[in-house]
Amino acid sequence: MKNQKRYLITSALPYSNGPIHIGHLAGVYVPADIYTRYLRLRKQDAIHICGSDEHGVPITLKAKKEGITPQQVVDRYHKINKKAFSDFGISFDIYSRTSSEAHHKTASEFFKNLYDKGEFIEKTSKQLYDKQADQYLADRYVTGTCPHCGSDSAYGDQCEKCGTSLSALDLINPISAITGNVPVTKATKHWYLPLDKHQPFLEEWILEQHKEWREGVKGQCRSWFKAGLQPRAVSRDLNWGVPLPIKDAEGKVLYVWFDAPIGYITATKELTPDWEKYWKSEDTKMVHFIGKDNIVFHCIIFPAMLKAHGDYILPNNVPANKFLNLENDKISTSRNWAVWLHEYLQEFPGQQDVLRYVLTANAPEAKDNNFTWKDFQTRNNNELVGDLGNFINRILVLTNKYYKGVVPEITELNESDKQVIAKINNLKQDIEKSIENYRFREAMVSVINLSRVGNKYLAETEPWLLIKTNPEQVKTIMNICLQITTNLSTLLDPFLPFTAKKLRTMLNIEMVEWDSLNAKNIIKVGHKINKPSLLFSKIDDKTVEKQREKLANSKKELEKETRKITPQKNIVDFEDFQKLDLRIGTVVSAEKVAKTKKLLKLQVNTGLDTRTVVAGIAESYKPEDIINKQVVILVNLSPRKIRKIESQGMLLMAEDFDGKLSALLPFEEVADGSSIK
Ligand code: MF3
Ligand code: ZN
Repeated sequence: MKNQKRYLITSALPYSNGPIHIGHLAGVYVPADIYTRYLRLRKQDAIHICGSDEHGVPITLKAKKEGITPQQVVDRYHKINKKAFSDFGISFDIYSRTSSEAHHKTASEFFKNLYDKGEFIEKTSKQLYDKQADQYLADRYVTGTCPHCGSDSAYGDQCEKCGTSLSALDLINPISAITGNVPVTKATKHWYLPLDKHQPFLEEWILEQHKEWREGVKGQCRSWFKAGLQPRAVSRDLNWGVPLPIKDAEGKVLYVWFDAPIGYITATKELTPDWEKYWKSEDTKMVHFIGKDNIVFHCIIFPAMLKAHGDYILPNNVPANKFLNLENDKISTSRNWAVWLHEYLQEFPGQQDVLRYVLTANAPEAKDNNFTWKDFQTRNNNELVGDLGNFINRILVLTNKYYKGVVPEITELNESDKQVIAKINNLKQDIEKSIENYRFREAMVSVINLSRVGNKYLAETEPWLLIKTNPEQVKTIMNICLQITTNLSTLLDPFLPFTAKKLRTMLNIEMVEWDSLNAKNIIKVGHKINKPSLLFSKIDDKTVEKQREKLANSKKELEKETRKITPQKNIVDFEDFQKLDLRIGTVVSAEKVAKTKKLLKLQVNTGLDTRTVVAGIAESYKPEDIINKQVVILVNLSPRKIRKIESQGMLLMAEDFDGKLSALLPFEEVADGSSIK
């Protein structure tokens, strides 16, 4: 590990307008937590900063929709999210919030500093405006067609379909998200950060000095540079946010993406009076954990702000993750396609580590990745129960059985014992290297591999047989396996903190510091361990099925909600209507038309005659269901040949949204041949 004085680790401040789901955890908070826990175990000065991002349009829109204030919205989710993180062992040193007075002060001062130095451009320009709502429309206040991909649900700041960052004026056919009106344009003054001026510096800093950054991160920056950075407005005409601390800026607040990252500074100030050493000393290594949709803000805009200010350090790395999908579909709060942390905990109480494990095993580090309940089950049953849990349990049970829980001594080491000991040290070094390079899934594989080394060693030496013929050698084997287990109780801690703690309790030890880990004698001969209990248990098919059903249901619900009622057809005159001769008839016989799925051949008594009608209703009615039923029939439809059968009329049916047909019936039985008016 390179000598670094201190670490400042930040996790993207989640918007305080909805609960946290597995995509958030996998993308940002679990990796950041692994990294910080690791550094703490290595006795580094490392702090992990986070909090709620409480400004921005989605919050005001949600408040409006629910008829409450934005403050009430953020109060609700701040509390829920803070608890969810702590329930999952995400060990922030502080979880702050941006609606606080302290933050308003820090953010205003930051803006004022840049303003006084002349770092902004003032510009009056036409912006979209909703007359009825008396409101300028930027960001999420306006939707329209994306000029790049043609998606008709792009927002005024971004198209979620193609990911392009937009300005409200770019949208084709813009519509106000408040009233649904078509906006007009109206002039307003704003302050812009001239990113173009900072481009040469940013390019050199990222592309030359930080070649070690993730390809995906550099790639996004490169394409921004290639397009040429533009001045970016950092103020908005809104009444929710940090008011602009300057004259002649009534009704204007800081753009949410200007104030939010300053939230990292506010939170550090709240955490410690000594905050400046983290933010203003080149000895600090700052790392931003974020998702890929935040790259431009953390690699370009915030660094440009920090640089313009001059007192602050820039991030050393921004290991942005890609996205996690759920059952092959994009996670979405609005479509309720997600696994929410609080719901997971209700269904899998005490099993936070299983989720942490699966999310790390599928971490979207280099590409988008997928979470499925089947994989969740398989990894739990095979890797956590089968590999890790099985090894630990066997060792603890055998130690209790053979030695009454007392750690036996090493009697003599043979070649294969020595090889196992060497592997412990090698794997530990692999883990360190992986974590320090932000490759957390690879690191966790090495941890599990340590238990696999143990299992293999047991399978080869078979101490349960050897105990009868060579009990002295069994002591050596068990001692080595107990060393592995003790190593695991620390090495697991960054990844599965709840499990690591349980394991230490079973081993009856305190946490062994990372740098004191060793393959020999870290759990001492003569030490007495406790009785074991199972660390993991199998998840059965029924449990998994239930989760999948739950998801399927939420998809169905959504489909119901978003069903498009077909628009009304063109107006017809009464004379036109009168041309239709509609009658009541009775189906007297029905049979399937051979080699078709949909068609029934019916004989219908129309009062006038009994005639043949071919109807496409076989998927909704069996022949016996419709015989002797009265129906509504259009009798003067010109005859048509269907499958060589002449059809002389048409039954009237209602078709629901799933394509199911129901025949129309008169309320009371009426004579066949009655006409419909
Ligand atoms: N709230 C933003 C999001 O969820 C992240 C803000 S990160 C910060 O995408 F830098 F602004 F703090
Ligand atoms: Zn688009």
